[in-house]
Amino acid sequence: KLAESLENTKVEQDGAIVVITMNRPKALNALNDQTLGELDRIFSCIETEAEVLGVIITGEGKGFVAGADISQMNGYGAEEGRNYANRAQTLFNKIEGLEKPVIAAVNGYALGGGCELSMSCDIRIASEKAVFGQPEVNLGLVPCFGGTQRLSRLVGTGIAKEMIFTARQIKADEAKAIGLVNKVVAPEALLDEAKAMMGGIISKAPMAVRYAKVAINKGVNMDLMNGLELEKDVAALAFASEDAKEGTAAFLAKRPAVFQNK
Ligand code: HXC
Repeated sequence: KLAESLENTKVEQDGAIVVITMNRPKALNALNDQTLGELDRIFSCIETEAEVLGVIITGEGKGFVAGADISQMNGYGAEEGRNYANRAQTLFNKIEGLEKPVIAAVNGYALGGGCELSMSCDIRIASEKAVFGQPEVNLGLVPCFGGTQRLSRLVGTGIAKEMIFTARQIKADEAKAIGLVNKVVAPEALLDEAKAMMGGIISKAPMAVRYAKVAINKGVNMDLMNGLELEKDVAALAFASEDAKEGTAAFLAKRPAVFQNK
């Protein structure tokens, strides 16, 4: 029912994996209000669907997402700009905070808000055709869908500053070299690679993957000692799960584990 009402995004389910395709190719999938609203509804739905274990985001055509829709921002003042940033940040926080793994399969231009969208995902796989950049200063703007914060956390402040100050676009290989993407693959292999990686992830104990995601995401904003406390907390939760009993028993019995997500 949700899928039928979407204009700028496409949602397909392949077993326990949902593939979201950004689908406004005539504007290189630039994010307008409609698209942000659709993504928000999709992620609200995925949060509560127990049978969905992983999400892949990709784009139709030459673009992954070529940024926020510039035609919409033209004429914004301080208050509208802040509200806009707040709206997108809230959505990207929701994607980052989803307690299921999310892979960005970056097929093409991932600029501005598109690079920021990919950084709110857990893992980035790039096609050889992918292009990354934070070109906001070209427009007299600053990255504000999380770019100044997530890019520096991923690649360090020096490289983040260079990318943001110069607005330079980088290709997939360079993105891999700086740690912005995990893997570069041929364009035609992109979705299969993303599905294969996600298939591997969701074959593990889903609850353990979830706790690990929470520990990493929250821990990155903590000092080491508090992060280690958090790690003990999630470890205790994992030890208490049925899946931990199954996983360890299966290893000792030399048989494959059958996880129940409990
Ligand atoms: C609106 C966009 C767009 C965008 C592309 N298009 N990017 N429309 N917002 N961000 C539209 C073009 O206007 C054009 O529409 C169509 O998509 C195809 O784009 P072309 O420019 O013709 O394609 P090409 O020559 O291949 O160049 C590709 C490109 C270029 C290098 C990606 O489109 C580009 O530089 N786009 C802008 C990228 C950008 O600055 N993004 C950051 C935005 S700011 P028509 O109708 O002419 O065919 C941002 C953060 C905002 O994301 C935070 C502050 C609030």
